[in-house]
Amino acid sequence: MQKTLIVGNWKMNLNVSQASLLVHRLHENIKIHRDIEVVLAPPMLNLQPLSLQIDRRQFKLAAQNAYHKDEGAYTGEVSFTMLHDLVHFVIVGHSERRHIFDESFDDICAKVAAAFRNNIIPILCVGETKTERLDGLMNQVLHDQVVTALANITTTEVEKLVIAYEPVWAIGTGDVATPSQAEKAARIIKNNIAELYGHDAADKVTILYGGSVTPDTAGGFLRSKGIGGLLVGGASLNYRQFSDIVDIAYRVKHGIRHERERK
Ligand code: PGA
Repeated sequence: MQKTLIVGNWKMNLNVSQASLLVHRLHENIKIHRDIEVVLAPPMLNLQPLSLQIDRRQFKLAAQNAYHKDEGAYTGEVSFTMLHDLVHFVIVGHSERRHIFDESFDDICAKVAAAFRNNIIPILCVGETKTERLDGLMNQVLHDQVVTALANITTTEVEKLVIAYEPVWAIGTGDVATPSQAEKAARIIKNNIAELYGHDAADKVTILYGGSVTPDTAGGFLRSKGIGGLLVGGASLNYRQFSDIVDIAYRVKHGIRHERERK
Protein backbone atom coordinates (compact mmCIF):
# COMPACT_ATOMS: atom_id res chain seq x y z
CA MET A 1 0.00 0.00 0.00
CA GLN A 2 1.28 3.47 -0.91
CA LYS A 3 2.09 5.80 1.95
CA THR A 4 -0.04 8.89 2.42
CA LEU A 5 2.15 11.91 1.77
CA ILE A 6 1.64 15.07 3.83
CA VAL A 7 3.87 17.91 2.64
CA GLY A 8 4.23 21.26 4.45
CA ASN A 9 5.26 24.09 2.13
CA TRP A 10 6.53 26.89 4.38
CA LYS A 11 7.14 29.19 1.40
CA MET A 12 9.28 32.26 2.25
CA ASN A 13 8.57 32.16 5.99
CA LEU A 14 10.64 31.53 9.15
CA ASN A 15 14.29 32.30 9.75
CA VAL A 16 16.69 29.61 10.95
CA SER A 17 15.80 29.81 14.64
CA GLN A 18 12.04 30.07 14.01
CA ALA A 19 12.26 27.04 11.72
CA SER A 20 14.16 25.09 14.34
CA LEU A 21 11.49 25.92 16.92
CA LEU A 22 8.68 24.80 14.61
CA VAL A 23 10.45 21.49 13.94
CA HIS A 24 10.93 21.03 17.67
CA ARG A 25 7.17 21.47 18.20
CA LEU A 26 6.30 19.18 15.29
CA HIS A 27 8.69 16.60 16.67
CA GLU A 28 6.81 16.63 19.98
CA ASN A 29 3.37 16.46 18.39
CA ILE A 30 3.65 14.14 15.40
CA LYS A 31 3.88 10.39 15.91
CA ILE A 32 5.89 8.26 13.52
CA HIS A 33 3.52 6.15 11.38
CA ARG A 34 4.87 3.64 8.92
CA ASP A 35 2.18 4.43 6.38
CA ILE A 36 2.30 8.25 6.56
CA GLU A 37 5.23 10.18 5.08
CA VAL A 38 5.59 13.68 6.53
CA VAL A 39 7.65 16.04 4.40
CA LEU A 40 8.76 19.55 5.36
CA ALA A 41 9.64 22.10 2.68
CA PRO A 42 11.33 25.01 4.47
CA PRO A 43 13.15 27.89 2.76
CA MET A 44 16.46 26.82 1.19
CA LEU A 45 18.56 28.41 3.93
CA ASN A 46 16.97 26.19 6.57
CA LEU A 47 17.55 22.86 4.85
CA GLN A 48 21.09 22.29 6.12
CA PRO A 49 20.45 23.01 9.82
CA LEU A 50 17.13 21.14 9.76
CA SER A 51 18.76 18.12 8.15
CA LEU A 52 20.90 17.85 11.29
CA GLN A 53 17.94 18.40 13.62
CA ILE A 54 15.32 16.04 12.20
CA ASP A 55 14.90 12.33 12.72
CA ARG A 56 14.53 11.10 9.13
CA ARG A 57 12.14 8.34 10.21
CA GLN A 58 9.79 11.10 11.30
CA PHE A 59 10.29 13.80 8.68
CA LYS A 60 11.77 14.01 5.20
CA LEU A 61 12.87 17.29 3.67
CA ALA A 62 11.89 18.95 0.41
CA ALA A 63 13.27 22.04 -1.30
CA GLN A 64 10.75 24.49 -2.72
CA ASN A 65 12.69 24.98 -5.94
CA ALA A 66 16.10 24.37 -7.51
CA TYR A 67 17.97 25.20 -10.71
CA HIS A 68 18.12 22.61 -13.48
CA LYS A 69 21.85 22.89 -14.31
CA ASP A 70 24.09 20.84 -12.03
CA GLU A 71 26.81 23.51 -11.57
CA GLY A 72 28.35 26.55 -13.19
CA ALA A 73 28.12 30.31 -13.57
CA TYR A 74 24.49 30.79 -12.47
CA THR A 75 24.71 33.46 -9.80
CA GLY A 76 22.18 33.09 -7.02
CA GLU A 77 20.99 29.59 -7.92
CA VAL A 78 21.16 26.28 -6.05
CA SER A 79 21.22 23.04 -8.05
CA PHE A 80 19.51 19.69 -7.56
CA THR A 81 23.01 18.22 -7.37
CA MET A 82 23.76 20.34 -4.30
CA LEU A 83 20.51 19.28 -2.67
CA HIS A 84 20.63 15.58 -3.25
CA ASP A 85 22.17 14.65 0.14
CA LEU A 86 19.77 16.93 1.98
CA VAL A 87 16.33 16.36 0.50
CA HIS A 88 14.17 13.51 -0.77
CA PHE A 89 11.83 15.79 -2.73
CA VAL A 90 11.81 19.12 -4.57
CA ILE A 91 8.64 21.07 -5.34
CA VAL A 92 8.67 21.93 -9.05
CA GLY A 93 6.42 24.31 -10.95
CA HIS A 94 4.51 25.72 -7.99
CA SER A 95 1.99 28.26 -9.29
CA GLU A 96 3.84 31.04 -7.47
CA ARG A 97 6.93 30.14 -9.49
CA ARG A 98 4.96 29.88 -12.72
CA HIS A 99 3.15 33.18 -12.19
CA ILE A 100 5.48 35.42 -10.13
CA PHE A 101 8.79 34.16 -11.55
CA ASP A 102 7.51 33.37 -15.05
CA GLU A 103 8.70 29.76 -15.08
CA SER A 104 7.91 28.27 -18.46
CA PHE A 105 6.91 24.74 -19.49
CA ASP A 106 10.51 24.26 -20.66
CA ASP A 107 11.97 25.40 -17.31
CA ILE A 108 9.71 23.01 -15.46
CA CYS A 109 10.47 20.14 -17.81
CA ALA A 110 14.22 20.72 -17.28
CA LYS A 111 13.73 20.78 -13.50
CA VAL A 112 11.79 17.51 -13.44
CA ALA A 113 14.58 15.88 -15.46
CA ALA A 114 17.26 17.40 -13.20
CA ALA A 115 15.47 16.08 -10.12
CA PHE A 116 15.42 12.49 -11.42
CA ARG A 117 19.03 12.79 -12.65
CA ASN A 118 20.00 13.62 -9.06
CA ASN A 119 17.82 10.97 -7.40
CA ILE A 120 15.35 13.45 -6.01
CA ILE A 121 11.59 12.98 -6.38
CA PRO A 122 9.90 15.98 -7.96
CA ILE A 123 6.57 17.14 -6.57
CA LEU A 124 5.21 18.62 -9.76
CA CYS A 125 2.50 21.24 -9.14
CA VAL A 126 -0.26 21.73 -11.67
CA GLY A 127 -3.56 23.60 -11.57
CA GLU A 128 -5.82 25.99 -13.39
CA THR A 129 -6.57 29.64 -12.63
CA LYS A 130 -10.11 30.82 -11.88
CA THR A 131 -10.50 32.25 -15.39
CA GLU A 132 -9.29 29.04 -16.99
CA ARG A 133 -11.81 27.05 -14.91
CA LEU A 134 -14.66 29.40 -15.78
CA ASP A 135 -13.70 29.22 -19.47
CA GLY A 136 -13.91 25.41 -19.35
CA LEU A 137 -10.17 25.03 -19.92
CA MET A 138 -9.26 22.95 -16.87
CA ASN A 139 -8.74 19.67 -18.78
CA GLN A 140 -6.57 21.36 -21.38
CA VAL A 141 -4.48 23.24 -18.80
CA LEU A 142 -3.82 20.13 -16.72
CA HIS A 143 -3.01 18.14 -19.86
CA ASP A 144 -0.52 20.75 -21.08
CA GLN A 145 1.15 21.16 -17.69
CA VAL A 146 1.52 17.40 -17.18
CA VAL A 147 2.58 16.43 -20.69
CA THR A 148 5.16 19.20 -21.18
CA ALA A 149 6.75 18.56 -17.77
CA LEU A 150 7.32 14.87 -18.51
CA ALA A 151 8.88 15.21 -21.95
CA ASN A 152 12.20 13.61 -20.94
CA ILE A 153 11.01 11.14 -18.33
CA THR A 154 11.14 7.33 -18.47
CA THR A 155 8.42 4.98 -17.21
CA THR A 156 10.54 3.91 -14.22
CA GLU A 157 10.96 7.53 -13.26
CA VAL A 158 7.34 8.50 -13.75
CA GLU A 159 6.24 5.74 -11.37
CA LYS A 160 8.02 7.59 -8.55
CA LEU A 161 6.56 10.98 -9.46
CA VAL A 162 4.35 13.03 -7.17
CA ILE A 163 1.91 15.47 -8.76
CA ALA A 164 0.15 18.08 -6.66
CA TYR A 165 -3.15 19.34 -8.03
CA GLU A 166 -3.29 22.90 -6.76
CA PRO A 167 -6.02 25.02 -8.32
CA VAL A 168 -4.52 28.51 -8.38
CA TRP A 169 -7.77 30.05 -7.12
CA ALA A 170 -7.54 27.95 -3.94
CA ILE A 171 -3.94 28.76 -2.99
CA GLY A 172 -3.69 31.01 0.05
CA THR A 173 -7.23 32.26 -0.53
CA GLY A 174 -9.27 30.19 1.91
CA ASP A 175 -11.38 29.38 -1.17
CA VAL A 176 -10.93 25.62 -0.98
CA ALA A 177 -11.89 23.18 -3.76
CA THR A 178 -14.40 20.43 -3.03
CA PRO A 179 -13.25 16.82 -2.69
CA SER A 180 -15.15 15.97 -5.87
CA GLN A 181 -13.34 18.71 -7.80
CA ALA A 182 -10.03 17.29 -6.54
CA GLU A 183 -11.12 13.76 -7.48
CA LYS A 184 -12.01 14.88 -10.98
CA ALA A 185 -8.65 16.62 -11.41
CA ALA A 186 -6.81 13.54 -10.12
CA ARG A 187 -8.67 11.43 -12.68
CA ILE A 188 -7.73 13.79 -15.51
CA ILE A 189 -4.07 13.79 -14.45
CA LYS A 190 -3.95 9.99 -14.16
CA ASN A 191 -5.55 9.67 -17.61
CA ASN A 192 -2.93 11.98 -19.09
CA ILE A 193 -0.19 9.84 -17.59
CA ALA A 194 -1.86 6.62 -18.68
CA GLU A 195 -1.95 7.88 -22.28
CA LEU A 196 1.79 8.45 -22.17
CA TYR A 197 3.02 5.61 -19.97
CA GLY A 198 0.15 3.12 -19.57
CA HIS A 199 -2.25 2.40 -16.71
CA ASP A 200 0.23 0.56 -14.47
CA ALA A 201 2.55 3.57 -14.35
CA ALA A 202 -0.37 5.99 -13.88
CA ASP A 203 -1.62 3.94 -10.90
CA LYS A 204 1.74 4.34 -9.19
CA VAL A 205 1.93 8.14 -9.48
CA THR A 206 0.94 9.83 -6.21
CA ILE A 207 -1.51 12.71 -6.57
CA LEU A 208 -1.76 15.32 -3.81
CA TYR A 209 -4.37 18.01 -3.33
CA GLY A 210 -3.18 21.49 -2.30
CA GLY A 211 -4.90 24.82 -1.77
CA SER A 212 -6.11 26.23 1.57
CA VAL A 213 -6.07 22.81 3.29
CA THR A 214 -6.88 22.95 7.02
CA PRO A 215 -7.69 20.28 9.60
CA ASP A 216 -11.37 20.86 8.77
CA THR A 217 -11.01 20.03 5.09
CA ALA A 218 -8.10 17.54 5.10
CA GLY A 219 -10.22 14.43 5.77
CA GLY A 220 -12.55 15.02 2.82
CA PHE A 221 -9.63 15.21 0.39
CA LEU A 222 -7.81 12.25 1.89
CA ARG A 223 -10.93 10.10 1.48
CA SER A 224 -11.24 11.10 -2.18
CA LYS A 225 -10.51 8.50 -4.81
CA GLY A 226 -7.13 9.02 -6.42
CA ILE A 227 -5.83 11.50 -3.81
CA GLY A 228 -2.76 10.13 -2.00
CA GLY A 229 -1.91 13.08 0.21
CA LEU A 230 -1.86 16.83 0.72
CA LEU A 231 0.36 19.81 -0.01
CA VAL A 232 -0.29 22.23 2.84
CA GLY A 233 0.83 25.88 2.78
CA GLY A 234 -0.48 28.27 5.45
CA ALA A 235 -1.60 25.57 7.90
CA SER A 236 1.86 23.94 7.85
CA LEU A 237 3.29 26.97 9.70
CA ASN A 238 1.04 26.25 12.68
CA TYR A 239 2.28 23.18 14.54
CA ARG A 240 -1.13 22.32 15.99
CA GLN A 241 -2.87 22.47 12.65
CA PHE A 242 -0.16 20.58 10.80
CA SER A 243 0.04 17.89 13.51
CA ASP A 244 -3.76 17.58 13.36
CA ILE A 245 -3.62 17.12 9.60
CA VAL A 246 -1.06 14.31 9.99
CA ASP A 247 -3.25 12.73 12.66
CA ILE A 248 -6.28 12.95 10.34
CA ALA A 249 -4.25 11.28 7.58
CA TYR A 250 -3.49 8.40 9.94
CA ARG A 251 -7.15 8.12 10.97
CA VAL A 252 -8.38 8.15 7.39
CA LYS A 253 -5.87 5.47 6.45
CA HIS A 254 -7.07 3.27 9.29
CA GLY A 255 -10.77 4.07 9.00
CA ILE A 256 -10.94 5.82 12.39
CA ARG A 257 -13.24 8.85 12.54
CA HIS A 258 -11.71 12.04 13.87
CA GLU A 259 -13.07 13.82 16.97
CA ARG A 260 -14.00 16.95 15.02
CA GLU A 261 -16.05 14.84 12.57
CA ARG A 262 -18.22 13.35 15.32
CA LYS A 263 -19.59 16.73 16.37
P1 PGA B 1 -2.09 27.18 1.02
O1 PGA B 1 -0.86 26.91 0.06
O2 PGA B 1 -2.36 25.89 1.78
O3 PGA B 1 -1.65 28.30 1.91
O4 PGA B 1 -3.25 27.54 0.16
C1 PGA B 1 -0.74 25.69 -0.64
C2 PGA B 1 0.46 25.75 -1.54
O5 PGA B 1 0.71 26.81 -2.13
O6 PGA B 1 1.18 24.76 -1.73
